This record gives sequence, structure tokens and C-alpha cells, in this order.
Amino acid sequence: MSKKTITKRKQEHIKAILKDPEIERYQSGFDKVHLIHRGLPELDFTKIDTSTVFLDKTVSFPLLISSMTGGADKNLIEINKNLALAAEKQQIALAVGSQRSMIVDKDAEQSFKLRQFAPNIPLIANMGAVQLNYDYGIEQAQKMVDILEADALYLHLNPLQEIIQPEGNTNFSNLAEKIANLNEQLSVPIILKEVGCGLSDKDIKLGISAGITWFDTSGRGGTSWSRIEAHRNEPSPIDKAKLGNLFQDWGLTTIQVLEIAKKHQDKANFIASGGIRTGIDMVKSVIMGGRICGMARPFLKPAMGSSAKVEQHIQCIHKQYRVSQFLLGASKTVDLFLNKALITSNNK
Ligand SMILES: Cc1cc2nc3c(=O)[nH]c(=O)nc-3n(C[C@H](O)[C@H](O)[C@H](O)COP(=O)(O)O)c2cc1C
Repeated sequence: MSKKTITKRKQEHIKAILKDPEIERYQSGFDKVHLIHRGLPELDFTKIDTSTVFLDKTVSFPLLISSMTGGADKNLIEINKNLALAAEKQQIALAVGSQRSMIVDKDAEQSFKLRQFAPNIPLIANMGAVQLNYDYGIEQAQKMVDILEADALYLHLNPLQEIIQPEGNTNFSNLAEKIANLNEQLSVPIILKEVGCGLSDKDIKLGISAGITWFDTSGRGGTSWSRIEAHRNEPSPIDKAKLGNLFQDWGLTTIQVLEIAKKHQDKANFIASGGIRTGIDMVKSVIMGGRICGMARPFLKPAMGSSAKVEQHIQCIHKQYRVSQFLLGASKTVDLFLNKALITSNNK
């Protein structure tokens, strides 16, 4: 694929998200999870400790700005710089969007050279897993990690998106074996993630047998990639735009994946993401077994503004998270993790 096509595609994704409010599905289901309020928390709010450790680095609270952009265009370089500066200042984790652009276009590398702005936080590189069936391997993946000076590599799984998009790569066969090979050779851990349709029990089991110890739920209910791609389809006899809208709510929610993940917690770590929008959603995710919580789309607009705007949004979510933790009577974030006693039993 040409460098022009990859950058154009990224710009079209952003345009679609800004134009169509229904790309946000509001179906994560977090409102149906009920927490047990403490009227007598026996804690000093000013001493609540929200910090946690992620990829061997301490972060101020378990927030990760999830994968979005990168590329040679000025606005894409600016978005990533704003995210990196803000994430470093607020001491939270950051992941970049697909780095395929920098393999086909050297000019895109700049947008991923983020260590200069973010020396201390966990940074995660990003590659489409399906590219392993299209001539990508350790050379490209390691280059992506090295340019970002990343702590881990996201391998994203996006079969629905690839089907809907006009130029999609749809051969997903024998990927687990290739993932296992890459995992053996790469200098940092691989994290398997979806892009908004969730991961099933079978996916997680396959990943674990491939040696993967980190998974990102990236569940349904927030940003719908099927709906985004529907905007980019040219009329064709099959009318892919209709297909994109039909499948816009396909998949498992973050809550469903976290439920599945419970039985794998002794073998793997889970990042909760997909439809997480508030500090309350984050607290619920940690209680259900997420070690860290990813949010993507809510950070797009602030990142198009300035690093100060991104920081404001992080601070806002941090406050929501801190208040929730306090009202549950948990002095430390580690006290929330898989603490069933904090959720009422009538969650259905
Ligand atoms: C503008 C934008 C671009 C994205 N690009 C990528 C990408 O390049 N690679 C990837 O793994 N996920 C990508 N995603 C998916 C997100 O990382 C995330 O998995 C998904 O949007 C669900 O999270 P959300 O509901 O918080 O947005 C992108 C999301 C957005 C909003």
C-alpha cells in the first residue's frame, strides 16, 4: 500500500469520527454495574493513593491513552506530541496508533519519536497482527518498538474492520503461530488487543498458548470501527457501507471480556478498554480485573487542541477516579483489584 493511501486513510478515520456522533455507541454497559457505597469510608480523601505499576513503571492512576494516530502529516505529528507531553506531565501511560505508516514512509517516523517528550512513562508501540501474513515480521516490529523506545508492542486484531474497509487485509489464517514466533524474538512484551469488538475465551487461550501474557479487551460499546469504515466505502455492488452499519454493534463488551478473563488471571494480565469514559468506569474495570484502563476517542479532540487540553481531560478523569475510590473505602488502587466485595450481586 502506498504512503499516500495510509495517511489519507488515517485522516478519513479522524474526519468520520468528528462528523458522526453515532460512531460513539454508548453501549458499554458500565451503568449496569453497581458499586457498594461507603457512608463511613474511614479515610482522608487527601491521602487516597491512586498510583499503580504498569510495565514496571509507576503511573499516577491506571489510565492509558490508547492507540490512535501517527503519520507524516503535520496534524498527526502534533496530536502525538500533545498526547506525549500531557501523559508525561500527568504520569500516565500512552500507546500510539498503527506504525505501518513509518515502514512505508520514513517521514512518518517523527510522529513516533515520543521518548523525547515522555522520558518516564510506559509507551506502547502498535502494529496490525494481520500484517504478519503480509510480509511484516520481527524486522518491522522491532523497528517500531525502537523508534518509540517502547515498553511493549500492541498487536491489534481487527478482522471486522479489515473486512469492511475497501483496501483491507483479510487473511487472518495461522496468525497465532506467527505471533508466538514474534513474541520469542521481540525485545519487549506483546499485548494482544482488539479495536472495539472484544476478545473471546478462545482468543485468549490461543494467545496464552502463543506465550502472550498481556491482553487488552478493547470491547464493544464505545467507538465502532465498523461504523467508521462504513463512511469510507465507495458504492460497490455489495454495498459495504450497509455492511459497516449492520455490524456496528458486533462483538463482546469490555465487561463481558473481563468476566471471561477472570479464569485466566493466573496466567495473564488484562488491560480494560473499549467504551470506558469516566473515572467511575475505570474503578469498575479495575474491580473486575483490569490492571490498567485504556481510553481512545475521548482524547482525540483535546489532542487536536493542545497538550494543556489533554492534561485537563486527564485531570478530570483522575478526580472522578479518586472520588470513586474514596467512596468505596479503598485507600489504595491495589485494594480495588478483583475485589468482588465492592460490587453488588444484582449486576445483571
Ligand atoms: C482516532 C482513532 C484511531 C485509532 N487508531 C488505532 C490504531 O491505529 N491501532 C489500534 O490498535 N487501535 C486504534 N484505535 C482503536 C482504539 O485504540 C480503541 O481500541 C478503540 O477505539 C476502543 O476504545 P474507545 O471506545 O475508548 O475509543 C483508534 C481509535 C481512534 C478513536
